[in-house]
Amino acid sequence: TEPKYVLGIETSCDETGIGIVRVREGGSAHEAGARHQLLSNTIASSMDEHARYGGVVPEVAARAHLEALQPAIEAAIAESGITLADIDAVAVTSGPGLAGALMVGIGAAKALAVSLGKPLYAVNHLVGHIAADILDPDAPPLEYPTVALLVSGGHTSLLLVRDLTSDVELLGETMDDAAGEAFDKVARILGLPYPGGPEIDRAAASGDPRAIRFPRGLSRASDREKHRYDFSFSGLKTAVARWIEQREAAGEPVPVADVAASFREAVVDVLVTKALDACAEHGVPRLLLGGGVIANKRLRDLTLERAAQAGVTVRIPPLSLCTDNGAMIAALAAELIAEGREPSTLEFGADSTLPV
Ligand code: KG4
Ligand code: ZN
Repeated sequence: TEPKYVLGIETSCDETGIGIVRVREGGSAHEAGARHQLLSNTIASSMDEHARYGGVVPEVAARAHLEALQPAIEAAIAESGITLADIDAVAVTSGPGLAGALMVGIGAAKALAVSLGKPLYAVNHLVGHIAADILDPDAPPLEYPTVALLVSGGHTSLLLVRDLTSDVELLGETMDDAAGEAFDKVARILGLPYPGGPEIDRAAASGDPRAIRFPRGLSRASDREKHRYDFSFSGLKTAVARWIEQREAAGEPVPVADVAASFREAVVDVLVTKALDACAEHGVPRLLLGGGVIANKRLRDLTLERAAQAGVTVRIPPLSLCTDNGAMIAALAAELIAEGREPSTLEFGADSTLPV
């Protein structure tokens, strides 16, 4: 059969991501090696524009997507070795995410699909993060069920994946700040620049993670029933701010490295504990990681260490596929196409709280 090419558009947050994937039909997502072939993965970020605000500003992100889309599509096509006329399907994130930012990508995707006369697939951003895994040529086959922990500046979600395209269950998510957002806010409190994750990581390198015992949100027994797999990071952020205020009020210097290391440990501890609890409760010996916070080496190391003790195998896609990108959106659509699923009609719009 003729090769099929999918172009994926991702604009749910501050990354304008365009990815092109070649669909491999037949077989299943369980097969070894890259399920579908990654041809290009272009990302334009408006992160620099958000730096002075200390976080992503929705209006700024939406405008930046508008400016970045056309050149990003051209760059992705150039990198892929095919032409725009070769594209057989368009895929786009319809949610969850920032409504205005999503709308820009959706508008572009509809225009492209209509002008090319090709089908359009609207996909879920979180499921897209899981689909990133099937583009990894070095990974063994993805097996089901698997628990997925997705951690970024926009989301912190724990999911049970029984089937990528038909059965993904949300086990829990953050009740307030996303984990990456917590890194960004605490960095700001410590006077470190945005984005805070890498800055805290750097500062933490020379600190003692046991210097200060910061709270692990939603881990008390009374919280456990209802919010067993939910997360809360705003209390932790406040605890860090209070602790620093008290030091300053006492006229004592703030040990930035110790605060950074202790904060990082509190975040990472609760993420890994809940992810492995979910694996144990559901009898699933597999854990998949995704999202930009996976760049945190302490998170990766503690996950691998505790997972090994628990007999759980861990999958970590390359970082370029973990951060928000268009290739994961194209990959999910490629899987839908391989399964012969119908495309979306043009009626869909942005859904900032789209469920999995
Ligand atoms: O997935 P991502 O690139 O996109 C957004 O969600 O926007 O994730 C970015 C987030 C930011 O909050 C950033 O501070 C955080 O990931 N991050 C990190 C690290 N590198 C990036 N957090 C902790 N440790 C890191 N090394
Ligand atoms: Zn994301």
